[in-house]
Amino acid sequence: MTTKIIGTGRCLPENIVTNDDLSKIMDTSDEWIASRTGIRKRHIAKEETTATMSAEAAKKALQQAGLSPEEIDLIIVGTITSDYVTPSTACEVQRMIGAKNAVAFDVNAACSGFMFALNTAHVYLQSGIYKNALIIGAETLSKIMDWSDRSTSVLFGDGAGAAVVTKGETGLLSFTQGSDGAKGMVLACKNRSNNNPLINTSKELEYTYMDGQEVYKFAVSKVPESIKKVLAEANLEPDDIAYFILHQANIRIIQSVAKRLKVSEEKFPISLDHCGNISAGSVPILLDEVNEKGMLKKGDKIVMAGFGAGLTWSACVMEW
Ligand code: UT7
Repeated sequence: MTTKIIGTGRCLPENIVTNDDLSKIMDTSDEWIASRTGIRKRHIAKEETTATMSAEAAKKALQQAGLSPEEIDLIIVGTITSDYVTPSTACEVQRMIGAKNAVAFDVNAACSGFMFALNTAHVYLQSGIYKNALIIGAETLSKIMDWSDRSTSVLFGDGAGAAVVTKGETGLLSFTQGSDGAKGMVLACKNRSNNNPLINTSKELEYTYMDGQEVYKFAVSKVPESIKKVLAEANLEPDDIAYFILHQANIRIIQSVAKRLKVSEEKFPISLDHCGNISAGSVPILLDEVNEKGMLKKGDKIVMAGFGAGLTWSACVMEW
């Protein structure tokens, strides 16, 4: 027995911001953003929050799975932009959807957050502790961006994706996950400033910092390496895979992974053109788009992979 996905859902904010919109508020252009990243627009939250988008995505995933909120035992949300330090987004989702029998908690693994949530749920399900889990990747990254920094603020967007998982004869065939805290400062966001009057503190809030080229180098080596690892564990070749659902950071990273795996780029669905990089939200949002289009047939094998701040990374092979 393993863990299978039986429902997916997503929620994106209504407000859409194009590259041309950004060029009106900072020194950038559609040409620069599109040619360097593949991104053309992104959804930026106005009314929506990390928890409300998560709950909407969760309701859709539950409906597709044919399960009621009361049947969910476990809710894990991958996020770095919870609305509150506490309660967790997962507890907020539990309240909003009425999943009163679930235990709920968040995982902080940035762009690998949904993958870490999936792997964690898998271990709980396989041990027999829980039966049905709701896993979510959700972010409101717009609130942790320095909007005066064109090198980061143009890259990210907001949104949430969810999946319902349960035990099944087939599903997750192999997974890997890893972290390298020693390189953590190449992509970082400092927490809120300390206003303790007993010590000298800075009142300045800090926003997301990224050494783009270091993260790029990490991604183009670690992602193919971890995909090769999960393929070998599942005794599969890249050609056996129907689709590679990768974290959506940069089209050039995805093209490089396709090249290193010697697989056609057509097998790499894309959402970054209309969503930007949604960190933990990228993989489940893209999975739901692919699922909604009817691109996944029973028995298809897909690879999912996340990578980003921490540094963290994760990949898996899933039989649909
Ligand atoms: O989800 C987490 C994972 N994150 C990633 O995977 C991100 C990985 N890194 C990347 O995708 C790329 O490194 C970036 C897209 C972030 C940057 O692309 P790049 O080709 O590495 O550009 P760069 O940082 O070397 O900047 C090139 C030039 C600089 O100008 P000068 O110094 O050559 O005059 C920047 O100031 O582009 C300039 N620039 C911009 N120009 C217009 C930086 N941002 C912008 C902008 N618009 N938004």
